[in-house]
Amino acid sequence: MKRFIPKASDDVRGPDAILAELEEVFRSPWADRMEEIATLVSALRVDGNLLRWFVAKVAKRREWPKLTGAQSFTLFSSDTMLVRINLWFPLPPGASESYRRYLSIEEIHNHDFHFFTTCLFGPGYTSTFWRDEDFTETRRVGETLLLKEQQVHRLQGEEVWFVEASSDFHSQHAPESFAVTLNVLPNWLERPTTIQYVLDDQHRIKTVIDSGLPPVDLAA
Ligand SMILES: [Fe+2]
Repeated sequence: MKRFIPKASDDVRGPDAILAELEEVFRSPWADRMEEIATLVSALRVDGNLLRWFVAKVAKRREWPKLTGAQSFTLFSSDTMLVRINLWFPLPPGASESYRRYLSIEEIHNHDFHFFTTCLFGPGYTSTFWRDEDFTETRRVGETLLLKEQQVHRLQGEEVWFVEASSDFHSQHAPESFAVTLNVLPNWLERPTTIQYVLDDQHRIKTVIDSGLPPVDLAA
């Protein structure tokens, strides 16, 4: 995981202009432009602009968008970018195991896509991260992964994180109060793999998830 802490943004453009610029950046070799992307993602936080944009769009359509998974609303998608918000709820006392798993809290997992993330509202949340430098997609349930570089960080303030597909494992901890975060997935259809793993506390694979999206032959 890479952390960026851009300066407080004075970008006064609205979300449409900033999202359009991000799309342009993702059409280029964007891995060389991480700082610039982090600054643009951070600019979406200014004055709650992105959340206002979302609520205004929903009100105009008179239809609440469908949830993706347990907690996400897709704001925008094209072939170069997917943008979504995630809602994070504190766990009520006595919350069941299945409810915790449903919200992906305290579940060690990776993703089959890269994403940038920042907190749009509330206290954010704390995550523990590990690296898996030897990702392969043929692992089976019960295999133990040798995860390295354990780190704990809180997604808050101006922070923007880049989470790398496959190699960055993480476990999100429940926030103290309601929080909304943003995910920006660059070139989300061009995945090197469709396989994701969920691990137990001993880093043994307990679930293999195949997202089903066709992987792209990156060598082609
Ligand atoms: Fe995750």
